[in-house]
This record gives sequence, C-alpha cells and structure tokens, in this order.
Amino acid sequence: MGRVSPETLGKELTVGEVAARSGVPVSTIHFYEAKGLITSWRNRGNQRRYPREVLRRVAVIKVAQRAGVPLARIKEALSALPNGRTPTAEDWAELSARWREELDARIRRLTRLRDDLDGCIGCGCLSTRHCPLRNPGDELAEEGPGPRLLDPA
Ligand code: FES
Repeated sequence: MGRVSPETLGKELTVGEVAARSGVPVSTIHFYEAKGLITSWRNRGNQRRYPREVLRRVAVIKVAQRAGVPLARIKEALSALPNGRTPTAEDWAELSARWREELDARIRRLTRLRDDLDGCIGCGCLSTRHCPLRNPGDELAEEGPGPRLLDPA
C-alpha cells in the first residue's frame, strides 16, 4: 500500500489498535504481514498504518487457522480474491465451505491414524510389512514387495 490517501484518513489503525481490536498479539500482526497475509503502509512518521478492513481479514485468518488451514493455503485463498479485497460474506461462505471439506478430510485421516495406532500400542515392531502406521493404506502388500503400480507385469 502507498501513503495515506484521503479515503483512508481517519480509518487507519496502528498495529497496537489492530492487535487490541482483533485479540491477536502485535508480533502475530507483524508475522501475518511478513507472510503477505495483510499489508500496511507507512505514515509520514514512518509508522505502520493499517486499513480498518484488516480486522476482518485477521478474523478470517484466525478462524481458518483454528480449522487447521495452513497459512500458505489461507494466503492463496485471500490472494485469489479480486484486487486482494477483504473477504465479503459471500467470499467467506465459499472459503469456509472449501475449508470445511478439507477439515472433514483431515478428520477422516486422523481418525484412521488413531484407529491404526490402536493396533500398535504395546507392539513396537514398526514393520514395513505389517505396521499400518509405518506402511499406511498399503492395499497392495498382499501381492508382495516392490512398486506394484509402476510395474504391473
Ligand atoms: S508397531 Fe507393530 S503394528 Fe505398528
């Protein structure tokens, strides 16, 4: 972002204000900025200033993080919005639906992992042939060793 424009006068926030209003530490605000998730500009005193919309953007980032969405994916989703705008209610509906599917998939993977772990408790073999954690989802194991899918002969 550039210098203060007339539209942003009176609407800009300091990093401390952003932190206080969003409930996120100042260090996290700086971190988000370093990762390209939010942006600021410098005022004449060389201090960072943020648009008010950053509060909604930070809220979206926090909710997505709570759902386990990696920062890189959050950045990708926010960057895909037209002109890098702050997500509207419509944008949020779309993003949250997508992230819900990913969360469901992650829950399924973790549930499977937990169930596999049950069989390993007290075992310790870590066998590449029999341990479901060491060799997860190996449905071709019954056919023998080697790259079965790459060498169908
Ligand atoms: S450690 Fe033996 S089956 Fe996993």
